[in-house]
Amino acid sequence: MSVMRLGYVHLRVTDLDSAKGHYGTTLGMTETASEQGKVFYKGWDEYDHHSVVLEEGGVGLVKLGYKCETSEDIARYESRAQRFGASVARMSKGDNMAVGDGIRITLPSEHTVELYSDMEHLGTEPGVLNPESWPRFGRGVSVPRIDHALLTCEDPAMVERFFMECLDFRPSERVVTDPADPELIGTWLFCTNTPHDIAFIKGGNGKFHHFAYFLEDTSAILRAGDIFAMDDVPVDVGPTRHGITRGHTIYFFDPAGNRNEVFANGYITYPDFPTITWTADQLSKGIFYIGRELNERFTSVVT
Ligand SMILES: [Fe+2]
Repeated sequence: MSVMRLGYVHLRVTDLDSAKGHYGTTLGMTETASEQGKVFYKGWDEYDHHSVVLEEGGVGLVKLGYKCETSEDIARYESRAQRFGASVARMSKGDNMAVGDGIRITLPSEHTVELYSDMEHLGTEPGVLNPESWPRFGRGVSVPRIDHALLTCEDPAMVERFFMECLDFRPSERVVTDPADPELIGTWLFCTNTPHDIAFIKGGNGKFHHFAYFLEDTSAILRAGDIFAMDDVPVDVGPTRHGITRGHTIYFFDPAGNRNEVFANGYITYPDFPTITWTADQLSKGIFYIGRELNERFTSVVT
């Protein structure tokens, strides 16, 4: 089987207490554990121990974790990544709280991605026997789960090739300078049946643009916007729709300046779907379909 999904996002935050207010109270994630300088969170519809790790000190991405189905899958990805020329190291159970053995890959983009197949299960409040549809006393936005991440890199074509050749991802949509003489400037890649489980746009290596939470529908996006107003959360863009992925969205910042997104209504993908191409002159419409304008902050602020 393949890489199953984005399992965790590990971020640095400047101040853990204010970050707890954002991720715990405003977004409504559940704190599942803490250790020196770190706190672990899950969304209400996530079974595993955590999906967000916050580490005090600085800002930006420490690493992403992608969950695989079996350890055999991880061994296959390990040999492919080594053949590709990426730096790959083994990680052991206990290196990350509640996470089993796996591998740690340094991507050609200098980001760290961990592959693992085992994480402690905590289950969800609705449970798996005659469950209610949602937790009745959720806090704030009450995010169900994380969805995807978008990173920047100097060579999107190289990183796309890595994810396709080594990890069996497929591109749903790509942005090129000119179809006649294409330079790839953005790629949206999936391993599930959503439009993207990871995406890269041209920029600095090792930088983090945002990660997103799945929300149920557009009314949940608008309700999230209301919560951001109540809690004085800095909003970057939205609510609006993306041309790429067709998702409805709001971008906003955590107190450290890491960009988050709430995302709903992206289309379903299948492996036989053709890849959609956007040209650079239509990028503004691809990113923000309604306003068709990229603000300076959206293109320049990364952590
Ligand atoms: Fe996104």
